[in-house]
Amino acid sequence: MSTDATPHDAAPILLELSPAEFRARLPEMLPIYVAAMKYPRGTEYHRAPMWSEHAGRAGWRAVAAALPQDPSTLVAIAYGYRGAPQQWWNQQVRSGMRHAGYSAERIDDALGDYFELTELHVHPDAQGHRIGEALLLRLLDGRPERTVLLSTPEVPDEDNRAWRLYRRLGFRDVVRRFVFTGDARPFAVLGRELPLTVASEPRR
Ligand SMILES: CC(C)(COP(=O)(O)OP(=O)(O)OC[C@H]1O[C@@H](n2cnc3c(N)ncnc32)[C@H](O)[C@@H]1OP(=O)(O)O)[C@@H](O)C(=O)NCCC(=O)NCCS
Repeated sequence: MSTDATPHDAAPILLELSPAEFRARLPEMLPIYVAAMKYPRGTEYHRAPMWSEHAGRAGWRAVAAALPQDPSTLVAIAYGYRGAPQQWWNQQVRSGMRHAGYSAERIDDALGDYFELTELHVHPDAQGHRIGEALLLRLLDGRPERTVLLSTPEVPDEDNRAWRLYRRLGFRDVVRRFVFTGDARPFAVLGRELPLTVASEPRR
């Protein structure tokens, strides 16, 4: 994969994947996730069945990206699906909101009609060129849900690319420093209304 900065600044090729294409390309996509999140090698084997199961959920959509100079090599992946009360993530966020003091009415409202942004990852060699932004905009384009919700690890001063991207695109706090069952790290749950449109800014 090229690490030259210039070619990345060309618009990425975005591909919407069917569930069958997504499952077939898991061996390409999971290493992007592991590298992007700096998880230990081998994490991809645990994740494969879960990602595959997610591809069967209602309202699921996935978008991958490649670079124009190498269209057959994926460098980024994003997917999500329509949130629903029987889902683990929904139940976790519900309990986080309850502990944060939200009223039952506010919780029902927040979790009543949302798209869960489940994964968004750009390979480290390709980060910093707005590929993540392009993927997110495509993934959310034309969604029927009222809002989009996501969770991301807390980092000091919100100082990483994920936080900068989400804040730039108008995501606001829903729950902060939330610890999901089975993961000791604190996460933030962020959300915003749909549609998501951005005025295209000039290149810096
Ligand atoms: C988070 C992530 C998906 C963002 O994707 P990305 O393509 O790297 O980032 P973006 O689309 O936000 O592009 C960001 C870069 O575009 C550039 N950029 C932003 N606004 C710009 C503008 N108006 N004009 C020109 N360039 C701009 C900047 O260089 C910016 O980098 P910076 O945030 O370090 O300053 C990716 O970095 C990643 O996979 N990170 C690791 C995994 C992760 O954290 N995933 C999310 C977990 S919830």
